[in-house]
Amino acid sequence: MSTVHVLNHPLIQHKLSYIRDKRTGTKDFRALVDEVAALMAFEVTRDLPVEEVEVETPVGPATVKKLSGKKLGLIPILRAGIGMSEGILRMIPAARVGHVGLYRDPETLQPHEYYVKLPNDVEERELLVIDPMLATGGSVVEAINSLKKRGAKSMRLICLVAAPEGVRYVQEAHPDVDIYLAALDEKLNEKGYIVPGLGDAGDRLFGTK
Ligand code: PRP
Ligand code: URA
Repeated sequence: MSTVHVLNHPLIQHKLSYIRDKRTGTKDFRALVDEVAALMAFEVTRDLPVEEVEVETPVGPATVKKLSGKKLGLIPILRAGIGMSEGILRMIPAARVGHVGLYRDPETLQPHEYYVKLPNDVEERELLVIDPMLATGGSVVEAINSLKKRGAKSMRLICLVAAPEGVRYVQEAHPDVDIYLAALDEKLNEKGYIVPGLGDAGDRLFGTK
């Protein structure tokens, strides 16, 4: 079974409180999601393997550490995942970026895939799959199915806010994918929204309705 990490760092929690607040407008919402994503990247990558290498500083030789494991890939789930991608890329600028486009039918809550474009060496990369919201889990499970079908072997999932139902569904469908959250909320409402959540992440990020 995968591990669920709730990232209780004070800066993440502080910024998330403004993200949740319905009075926060699009400009600030977008900036805060970007900042939280960057902070989450720091925690999510904490266990990446490193190796010792030698460099010459202006003063003399030094033994230093560099990342040694798989190359990284970032997979935002369109559309709301885009809001988290720049923040994470600032921390890992060499990562390749793939996109999976999905929308959730508002009546059936079923995900519909409309776009997939991935780096051609996706099977060799450690992928960070990002979506601010993990509600029923349908979108994330479908996105990971799609990635595995195209060869992806190793993934971690990063979401801002999740409902217990969504976490369970992802853990059952993809027990190999660890989950990193800024918050694990109470439940879903009858419309499939996370309670208390933050509303519609895509609409708040992009100013649509
Ligand atoms: C939202 C969100 C997730 C999905 C979560 O996307 O960004 O992808 O819903 O719900 P689920 O866990 O029940 O599948 P949405 O379908 O609203 O599309 P958007 O990102 O284009 O706004
Ligand atoms: N998608 C969102 O954007 N918010 C929710 O609460 C659930 C799904």
